[in-house]
Amino acid sequence: MTDTTYELKVDLHGHDSNMRESLRVALRNSGFLQFVESCPDYKEHNPSYATESELVPQDMSRLSVYSFSKDELEGAKAVAESVAGFSCEISQMDTTVWQEGWKESFQPLFAGRFYVQAPWHKAEVPDRSVSICIDPGMAFGTGQHATTHVCLQLLSELAAADLEKPILDCGSGSGILSVAVRKLGGQKIVATDIEADAMLAIAENCKRNNVEGVELSRESVPKGSYGLIMANILTPVLLELLPQFVEALEPGGKILFSGVLYEQKDDFAKETKKHGLSILNAVTREGWLGLLMEKV
Ligand SMILES: C[S@@+](CC[C@H](N)C(=O)[O-])C[C@H]1O[C@@H](n2cnc3c(N)ncnc32)[C@H](O)[C@@H]1O
Repeated sequence: MTDTTYELKVDLHGHDSNMRESLRVALRNSGFLQFVESCPDYKEHNPSYATESELVPQDMSRLSVYSFSKDELEGAKAVAESVAGFSCEISQMDTTVWQEGWKESFQPLFAGRFYVQAPWHKAEVPDRSVSICIDPGMAFGTGQHATTHVCLQLLSELAAADLEKPILDCGSGSGILSVAVRKLGGQKIVATDIEADAMLAIAENCKRNNVEGVELSRESVPKGSYGLIMANILTPVLLELLPQFVEALEPGGKILFSGVLYEQKDDFAKETKKHGLSILNAVTREGWLGLLMEKV
């Protein structure tokens, strides 16, 4: 870690969901796999934004990419500017200030049956909630992002029998979904991610939650027969991995997809149907869609 952290801020105002998706795809294709979408204006005026009762209709207005290397962010800036002229700015900050600022904005939250907090939070876990403690480090998955939130909501509605067979958490990031299913009673869990930072974060967060036995892999879909697959990744990656998911899912098995924009729901449903998946449940939040499907 170095003393200075750089942030590329991409202004999303005035760009529709298709343009925003083109931006995500272009960044991903250029090797920028981790970015944060936020609504800075909204948070400033609504300190209670992370409570269960508020289903916030907020419009993400900024996409940020963080790096210790300014040159790397200049590359990301060029990519973003080449996609229909997104307006961008690179700023720098002291790494410790960035980490502390990030901690301030991370508030405990409810998502379905889960109560998610960070190690520095001291709040008591509300009755009947399943507690998850997460420090994502450099990996994705605090629970604050809508795509993770919808996963936790959908997982909350699963029956115990859905968790009896092996479970794959593909694109595990911080390991938040692996911890969640383990706490609901899942026994055999494989957490995968292509990022080395994620491997560290998953292991640490499992330990932090007294969760044992989660197997780690850098291979997206390790061979196996899974009763449940969870995948919160960008839509193009989900579609790329779809044949592998379906092959690895046992008949009658369930698959949880997140990372799909609401506008893409029909196309996504069409593709998954071609592969023999049918929709069981769906949740939307902030323009994102979480889908629980079954292999028929
Ligand atoms: C949106 S984050 C989801 C993190 C966490 N599962 C959650 O729900 O908050 C997506 C994660 O997928 C990982 N990823 C991207 N492409 C992948 C691939 N082809 N195979 C496995 N993981 C991938 C990224 O590194 C990132 O950690």
